[in-house]
Amino acid sequence: MCGIVGVISKEFNVAPLIVSMLKKLEYRGYDSAGVALVQPGKVVVKKDRGVIDDIRERYNLTKMEGKVGLGHTRWATHGAPSHKNAHPHQDCRGEIAVVHNGIIENYVELKRELVIRGHLFKSETDTEVIPHLIEEKLAEGLDLKEAVKETVKKLKGSFAIAVVSSKFPHKIVAAKKGSPLVVGVSEEALFIASDIPAFLQQTNKVIFISEEEIVTLTGNKVEIETFNGQKVKRTIQTINWTYEMAQKSGYPHFMLKEIEEQPLAIKETLRSTNGELMEIVEEIVKNEGNLYFVASGTSYHATLAGKYIFAKVAGIPFETMQSSEFTEAIVPTLSPKSLVFAVSQSGETADTKVSLKKAKERGAKTIALTNVLGSSITRIADEVCYTYAGPEIGVAATKTFTSQITLLTYLALKSAEVLGLEVEEKFRKLKKLPQYLSKTLTTSNLAQRIAKEIKSHGDVYFIGRGVGYPVALEGALKLKEISYIHAEGTGAGEYKHGPLALISENTPVVAVVTPGPSQTKMVGNIEEVKARGAKVISIAPEGNKKIEEMSNFTFKINREVDEFLSPAPYIVPLQYLAYYTAVLRGLNPDKPRNLAKSVTVE
Ligand code: G6P
Repeated sequence: MCGIVGVISKEFNVAPLIVSMLKKLEYRGYDSAGVALVQPGKVVVKKDRGVIDDIRERYNLTKMEGKVGLGHTRWATHGAPSHKNAHPHQDCRGEIAVVHNGIIENYVELKRELVIRGHLFKSETDTEVIPHLIEEKLAEGLDLKEAVKETVKKLKGSFAIAVVSSKFPHKIVAAKKGSPLVVGVSEEALFIASDIPAFLQQTNKVIFISEEEIVTLTGNKVEIETFNGQKVKRTIQTINWTYEMAQKSGYPHFMLKEIEEQPLAIKETLRSTNGELMEIVEEIVKNEGNLYFVASGTSYHATLAGKYIFAKVAGIPFETMQSSEFTEAIVPTLSPKSLVFAVSQSGETADTKVSLKKAKERGAKTIALTNVLGSSITRIADEVCYTYAGPEIGVAATKTFTSQITLLTYLALKSAEVLGLEVEEKFRKLKKLPQYLSKTLTTSNLAQRIAKEIKSHGDVYFIGRGVGYPVALEGALKLKEISYIHAEGTGAGEYKHGPLALISENTPVVAVVTPGPSQTKMVGNIEEVKARGAKVISIAPEGNKKIEEMSNFTFKINREVDEFLSPAPYIVPLQYLAYYTAVLRGLNPDKPRNLAKSVTVE
C-alpha cells in the first residue's frame, strides 16, 4: 500500500512538484519516501525511512535537478521500513529507477534467477526484481516500453509501477495490474499517480489506466497499449473535484473537516441518485437466491447497517461478511442466482476485490458501491454506484461511511417501492437526512467535554441494538484506531454473555439507543452496566428522559429521525468523540500508526 507519482516536463525542474505530490498521497502510506530524477547519463535517487517532510529536508529533495522524475511514499509490505527498502529501486548500474505499489508474489523465484545471472540486490523488497528485469531487457536492445512490457509479463501479483531510465531520458513508462494508476494532463507537464489528489492542484484532466495496460509519457504525448501490444485510445476526463476540496480548508485535521462535511457529502450522494439506479434495484428485487454484502473495516459496518435497513424497510434479507472471510465462508456457496454487493470507499481494498472476482467466477451477479471513480472494483462488477462524497483523506473513514449508508438506504427504499410497499413518507424523510446530520454537528462541544473524561481510560465499551449495533461497532473502531484506547463494540443483548465481566467502577460504556423497538431493551442493558459502576455515555432520541437520567452524559438526537435513518446521525457524536480524544492524547487523527487509508494487499 503505497503512493507512486511521476512528472515529465519540458520546461522546469520537477523535483518540487514531485515532493508536493507525495505529500498529497501520504495517506496511502507514510513510513518511507523517495525521489528519482533523470540526469544526463544517470538516474539520481534520494530516499529514506520517515515522513516526506523530514526526508525532503534531510536530502534537500526540492533542489534536485531534472525534468523527468518519479516519487514514492511507502507503507511497508516486504522488508521493514528502512533506507535500503525505500523506493525508488534501481538496477545494477543505477541507470533505471522504479516505483511500485502492490505486491510481486513470485519475486523470490525471480530474484533467485536474477542473482544466478549476476545481479546485485540491495533491498529486501519484492519490487527490486523489476529494475533488474528491465535492465536485462534493455541490454537485449529493447526500448523502455518494450522492456517494461516484457518484464510485467513475468510478474505475478498486483502492481502499479512507473519507470525511468537515463537511456531514455525523456520518457516515463508506467504499467498497471491490480493497483490504481491515473494520468494527469496539463499544458506544462504530464503526471502519473496512484490517485488524483496528487496532481489535482495542477490539472483536473485525467486519463484512467485500465487493467493490464502500459502507458508511455513523452513530451506532451500519452500513449496507452495493453500488455499484449494492442494500442488503446482513451479520452481525457474532467474531474470536478477542486483542489480545495482535497485540502483541509482551514481545519486542523482532515478528519474534522470530513466529519463536518457530512451533511454536504450525503446531499451529493442523494443528488447523484437522481431517483434512479433502477438496474441495481431490479437486480436486488428479482434475486431468487442469496444476497450478500461484502466489505472491510468501516465499509463493513455500513453494510451491517444496510442489512438491517433492507430488512426493515423492504423485507429483503441481505447477509454481510467481512471481505477477508468471504472467500472461505461464502464463495463456495455462490451460484448464478446469487447477488454479491461489494462496498468499499476506495474501491481498492484487496480482500474486497478478490471476493468480487471470485463471486464472478462462480457466476454470481455483482454490484460495486464506492467513492472512487474508475477504481478497481468498478471494473470488476456488473453494476456500479458511487457515493460522490468527495475525496476522503483522513485514514479513519467518516463521510464515506455516512454516504455509503445513505446510498444503501436509498436502494432499500427503492426496492421497497418496486415491491409495492408504501415508502413515500420515508423518501420524504430521507431527503431531510442532510438537515438531520447538520443538527448533529452541535454535539461537538459535548464530545469535547466527554473526551476529557475518557482520554485517560484504558478501555471503553460500546453497546447497541438493532441499527444501533453497527453504530456501536463503528464508534468503537473509530476510537481505537485513532486514540489507541482499547475500545470494544458489542450487541447489547450479548453483553451479559461475557463483556459484562469487564465492567467495574467508572468504566466508560457508550450506549447507542436508536429509535424503535430496541429502546426499551436498551434501558435494561444500561441498568446492567450501571449496576456494576459504569460511567454511561448515551446517544438517544431527544426527550428520552429515562435514558438521560441513567446516563452521565447524553448526546440528544432530533426525535424526527426514524429508526431506518438513524445510523448516520447517531454515528456523528462518536466520530467527534474519537477525534477529540485522539487530539487530547496528542495524536494525529489523520495518520494513525500502523494503518493506511487503502489496504491493497490481502
Ligand atoms: C482501511 C481504512 C478504513 C477502511 C478499510 C476498508 O482499513 O483505514 O478506514 O474502512 O480500509 O476500506 P474501503 O476502501 O474498502 O472502504
